[in-house]
Amino acid sequence: MNYHTLYHHDILTSSQFTKADVEAIFAKTKHMRELVKTKGGNDTLKGTIMTALFYEPSSRTFGSFVAAMQRLGGGIIPLQGVVYSSVAKGETLEDTVKTFDNFSDVIVIRHPQQGAANIAANAVDVPVINAGDGPGEHPTQALLDLFTIADHFPSIDGLTVTFAGDLLYGRTVHSLTTLLSLYAPAGITCVSPSELQMPIEFVQALKKKNIPVRQTDELEPELVKTDVLYVTRVQRERFRDLDVYEKLKHRYIVTKETMNRLNKKAILMHPFPRVGEIATDVDSDSRALYIREQMRNGLYVRMALLSLVLRKEP
Ligand code: NCD
Repeated sequence: MNYHTLYHHDILTSSQFTKADVEAIFAKTKHMRELVKTKGGNDTLKGTIMTALFYEPSSRTFGSFVAAMQRLGGGIIPLQGVVYSSVAKGETLEDTVKTFDNFSDVIVIRHPQQGAANIAANAVDVPVINAGDGPGEHPTQALLDLFTIADHFPSIDGLTVTFAGDLLYGRTVHSLTTLLSLYAPAGITCVSPSELQMPIEFVQALKKKNIPVRQTDELEPELVKTDVLYVTRVQRERFRDLDVYEKLKHRYIVTKETMNRLNKKAILMHPFPRVGEIATDVDSDSRALYIREQMRNGLYVRMALLSLVLRKEP
């Protein structure tokens, strides 16, 4: 990737990236990790401003984007729980983003509607970064997830990745399978209740790349052969019928016993928030990466992305 690939470009979907793009982002991410560890940050984004326009709750994505911008010397317009802006008066998404187009150099948006980031991107001149569009995608999360995997194992090729939970509405797994398909994993296993299966287009995309993909509703038999166990929350806010949610919400719970059966060299990931899918006493297991590496990598990856999107030079 040359430095113009992301410069002034939107980040809307994982499918926009080539393997070379991902690897250039990861090289920059390592540089950012080193920068934070040695100096805390620098001033390379001084004079630029990021609007963080969040129409849905967020802790990690919002917090790490804001921290990323500030560690690089940039400014922020933090709009979380957009009730305080004119959206509460009935303003359209287009009008809102056009407003912040005037004040900032990049807009990071999270919205409950699938495709909202694309609508925003079409309405403004500044680059738009999709921080989650309903049950659609979450490409920056996928980059931090894949970075965490790549940083842990010698190679992504040959790994067996098991996704468990809400694969229908969980946008992070949609974006991560797309990035994994740039590599040659040994296989991807989708563990979910039949009501919450991975959307067919993602399964087909994996098959098209000759990546073995299986769907099952049983987690236990997968544990010994898994290298990466990626667990997700059942997405309560996407259900019309909350009785269905109640029935499915705790279909898979990772406990110490689960960890005893999980491959010793595997890693356990979760995008968070968790609402009971992983028992808290699992946190001290050295294979549990969700609170330490995975979250911190969110900061480094977003520093890398903001730098690549906002700066012309390396
Ligand atoms: C995820 C999201 O918002 O899609 N969280 C995150 O960004 N780390 C996962 C979730 O909400 O379950």
